[in-house]
Amino acid sequence: MKRLAALCLPLFLATAAHAQEAVLNLYSSRHYQTDEALYANFTRKTGIKVNRIEANEDALLERLRNEGARSPADVLVTVDAGRLWRAEQMGLFQPVKSPVLQERIPGELRHPDGLWFAFSVRARPIFYLKGAVDPAGIRDYEDLADPKWKGAICIRSSANMYNLSLMSSMIAGDGPVKAEEWARGVVANFARSPKGGDTDQLKAVAAGECRIAVANTYYYVRLMKSARPEERAVAEKLGVIFPNQSGRGTHVNVSGAGVLKHAPHRDAAVKFLEYLSGDEAQSYFANGNNEYPVSGKVTGNRELASLGDFRRDALNVTLLGRNQAAAQQIYDRAGWK
Ligand SMILES: [Fe+2]
Repeated sequence: MKRLAALCLPLFLATAAHAQEAVLNLYSSRHYQTDEALYANFTRKTGIKVNRIEANEDALLERLRNEGARSPADVLVTVDAGRLWRAEQMGLFQPVKSPVLQERIPGELRHPDGLWFAFSVRARPIFYLKGAVDPAGIRDYEDLADPKWKGAICIRSSANMYNLSLMSSMIAGDGPVKAEEWARGVVANFARSPKGGDTDQLKAVAAGECRIAVANTYYYVRLMKSARPEERAVAEKLGVIFPNQSGRGTHVNVSGAGVLKHAPHRDAAVKFLEYLSGDEAQSYFANGNNEYPVSGKVTGNRELASLGDFRRDALNVTLLGRNQAAAQQIYDRAGWK
């Protein structure tokens, strides 16, 4: 008995010391008010401390590339399937097999080999100037190429990741030939040469510079919730159309994360991803940037919920990255700056 206790003691201490050191090193391009609660809650539940490095997406990829096998990073969190795909192409991720993640994250929102998983969804619908556009006249993205919208459309540049992913979905949906015809038709309908970000397009519609824009949902919700009355007024002038509802669904993109190939704390990393897929974390994660949880069921975000339910494109998000080079070539040939 005594000997057993003596043997057990050092083992116990070693375990306790190990638990105290439980950490997770996270590289993230997201930074929102709800993050503190998101990470604190994980630490409370698991005892694992979260060290964060936050920087913009491309800087993080560069840093990971430079650090190579010596990288202390366990998990990369970033936005846009195109960028997750780039990280995948750089060989940064390792596969994760987790029944929890497979059950909670729909198949089209994760990499087939478990290299990365989506944890929130943003849609890229069509916005229009109320009173100037009959929304019944626009059912699909394809309708934006109709010559009746000559001089009506504001949209940002083709080099932007969101538009590259949109074109990737058009290629998957319509094939490259039709997708290029579409791009030419949209360019012919431009109200102006592409400039600015998504919010600038929404403001240009409200100002009457154009009548139609394409933008991510969270930019619109941000305007709805703005403390500045003039920004709320922009949102009030706009209507939203979720296109392709009788076909493939509205184009969506994701924020996502994967476990890094050289993760020093692999188990903690998998636990963290599983935690992110839970209801409570999903609410923090999605609401931080007015995005949809992967389940599609919005909670605690009245403004986002007010946009209504819609059918999202069920294309596997990995294809948004894979079609990217073809997407840029199509835009270039179509003269979409
Ligand atoms: Fe954005």
